[in-house]
Amino acid sequence: MEVIIKADYKQMSAEAAARIADLVYHQPNAVLGLATGSTPLGLYKELIRLHRDDGLDFSKVITFNLDEYVGLPASHEQSYNYFMKDNLFDHINVNPSNIHVPNGMASDIEAYCLWYEDEIEAYGGIDLQILGIGSDGHIAFNEPASSLGSRTRLKTLTKQTIDDNARFFDDPTEVPHYAITMGVGTIMEAKTCILLASGKGKADTVAKAIEGPVTALITASALQLHPDAVFILDEEAASSLELHDYYQWVYENKPE
Ligand code: GLP
Repeated sequence: MEVIIKADYKQMSAEAAARIADLVYHQPNAVLGLATGSTPLGLYKELIRLHRDDGLDFSKVITFNLDEYVGLPASHEQSYNYFMKDNLFDHINVNPSNIHVPNGMASDIEAYCLWYEDEIEAYGGIDLQILGIGSDGHIAFNEPASSLGSRTRLKTLTKQTIDDNARFFDDPTEVPHYAITMGVGTIMEAKTCILLASGKGKADTVAKAIEGPVTALITASALQLHPDAVFILDEEAASSLELHDYYQWVYENKPE
């Protein structure tokens, strides 16, 4: 595991964007796993800038998103389909037929989830997966007690996640109670996982994920078992880490 601590949100976002840009530059048909939430917004802004100013080319890139609310059509402003179009896809030259965001309106959810898994496999798996972390330690919508071997499936959201995400909805009672989400097992098969976290509010959860036991109660802790997991944090999100100074030292003394 690599833990990278950046001074602030802007630098955290720039570090993640540089890693994606490097991958796409060397492998134009890379398969990117993408996340929603407020945390990756700075990363997406930077990717848009790199596309506009430096010509970063997404025309052959394939994308798979982690999750989507059940019951929200792609046209709904709070759907993750809408979020991705609005905050990234409409501003870069990704080919719409290369974009995959789960369909929250699928009529047969079980069959749809199997198809989503097959589709990831058909493209050779995810090269680089971007992740945020929920305040209860979840990655994607893998709520506490999700199997660490889980695959894409229907998941019931916790009260805490519903409350956390209510801030995006005009009417808090509109927050869906179910989601389609890639499983922890699906995420663990990505070649590289980059988890971003920012702000004091995430500090204790981040410390549990990195330094606590591997447990289904904090599904982000499964990344401790991943061969290439990178946590990119800002100072506030890193502020509860016991080995904070050691991670900094390792980063500064990285062999060439
Ligand atoms: C939702 C998403 C997660 C995201 C989390 C944190 O639950 N399903 O993928 O990591 O929110 O969101 P934020 O970045 O807004 O704190």
